[in-house]
Amino acid sequence: MKDQILVTGGTGYIGSHTSVELIEKGYEVVIIDNLSNSSIEVLDGIEKITGVRPAFEQFDLCEADKVKSFFQKYTGLKAIIHFAAFKAVGESVDQPLMYYQNNLISLMNLLRNMDEFGVKHLVFSSSCTVYGQPDELPVTENAPVKPAESPYGNTKQISEEIIRDNMQVKPELNTIALRYFNPIGAHSTSHIGELPRGVPNNLVPFVTQTAAGIRKELMVFGDDYNTPDGSAVRDYINVVDLAQAHVVAINRLLQKKNNSNFEFFNLGTGTGSSVLEVVKAFEKVTDQKLNYKIVDRRSGDIEKVWADTRVANEVLGWKAKRSLEDTLESAWNWEKKIRGIK
Ligand code: WQD
Repeated sequence: MKDQILVTGGTGYIGSHTSVELIEKGYEVVIIDNLSNSSIEVLDGIEKITGVRPAFEQFDLCEADKVKSFFQKYTGLKAIIHFAAFKAVGESVDQPLMYYQNNLISLMNLLRNMDEFGVKHLVFSSSCTVYGQPDELPVTENAPVKPAESPYGNTKQISEEIIRDNMQVKPELNTIALRYFNPIGAHSTSHIGELPRGVPNNLVPFVTQTAAGIRKELMVFGDDYNTPDGSAVRDYINVVDLAQAHVVAINRLLQKKNNSNFEFFNLGTGTGSSVLEVVKAFEKVTDQKLNYKIVDRRSGDIEKVWADTRVANEVLGWKAKRSLEDTLESAWNWEKKIRGIK
């Protein structure tokens, strides 16, 4: 009998890649998604890669009655990986209430039902944005949590606090919070990848859509930061590396190897790359110039952040393997696949 894992947001970018890795490691995956930022065809991609079509339930985790009905139906869940959330930094600045409502209500509905139905293990999709602009780099898990620079980052900070406070009264719960840096790229088969709705908020899909001729040019948000080339620095991590870290975290929880009932891990490469360095790496990989222009900074952005990965390497036993260039190539292959470009 396979261990059944609920993946909320499982037709999303990181959720779909994680579902593939879980299935390939012998887990049974059940997906909840409201398809607000993904499409049902993602299930076809998961099936093409693994030969397995995960069970799928379409509803919004903010609807408490539907969440309860789900738990009444799926009584064999061993653990939950909670991805379902809005995640665009820029958009969250423009629509803060939508972000607080969606990201916090959905989490609390999940936690209430985990308690009622006795599901004890949670992997929470957190973010390096909980650190704000760190005082020291690379940033470690015990860096002070500073005021988030965006409502999105604040929803992740508050979510971690909600989980922590809930665990004070529910000590039987076990949680691992994974603080992602910047996930990019696509599965090597190009059967799944990033599918942003409308104009992409994130850098790499905007780069690949510009290269595909869908966008006229990339806007580089600022070149007046205190960085080597003036553009902002992030830690770009391959989405398959990231997905594999979730399987390691689930294994750790189910084998009860976590030495405290609430652990945090930075999931990055440990290397920072600037926006202009990403552009240059993409041009090298694709052997084509990218149209871009420098514009003003984007509100909500921090200047620079990259991960101290020692705890994830030593305690979780996980390390990112794929290079920035290989990852950008996977993103470009995915873009060409979905646009029918040879
Ligand atoms: C990266 C850099 C932009 C678009 C992401 C996720 C968030 C969280 C943290 C997981 C910034 C610049 C972007 C463009 C640009 N990850 N940029 N032109 O803001 O770091 O947040 O990582 O939780 O969910 O969204 O990522 O890709 O939006 O921006 O110059 O058209 O690229 O200013 O410096 P960000 P991003």
